[in-house]
Amino acid sequence: MAVSLCINDELRTYLGDPRVSLLEVLRETFRLTGTKDVCGQGFCGACTVHIDGEAVPACLRPIGLLEGAKVTTIEGLSPLGSQTALQAALLKHDVVQCGMCFPGLVMSLSKFIEQNGPATRQDLQVAMAGNLCRCTGYENIVGAVMTMFEGEEVPR
Ligand code: FES
Ligand code: FES
Repeated sequence: MAVSLCINDELRTYLGDPRVSLLEVLRETFRLTGTKDVCGQGFCGACTVHIDGEAVPACLRPIGLLEGAKVTTIEGLSPLGSQTALQAALLKHDVVQCGMCFPGLVMSLSKFIEQNGPATRQDLQVAMAGNLCRCTGYENIVGAVMTMFEGEEVPR
């Protein structure tokens, strides 16, 4: 089966089994390995991408259902060599440890902030609810993101 979709503003065509997940196609066919494969079952959020304007786990979307879809991955979130304000805040406050969760986390948070504007701590906790992080601790991440809105100190 052929599936044509727009990935990071480029038209791409996948040829193969339509039951394969978008996650596998991104990583194995198009070599967009910034999207992480951790649980493969929709539990961890590491594979979160934007599909038609919503943040969703790529492991739960069969490629065969995505004809004509617009997909943005972490590689397409900002031009090569640049960072979004969100990425800059997370890096500046050094809250990334192993990094496996971060591409998905950034995709979830960036979509939430784009749709809702300045957030509260509680908002961010809701926005991150589907993203598991085993290393950094959620409070540090929330604190770093809040500096975008309040300039407050990052809790340690
Ligand atoms: S790899 Fe998709 S939710 Fe965990
Ligand atoms: S930084 Fe390691 S899982 Fe989040």
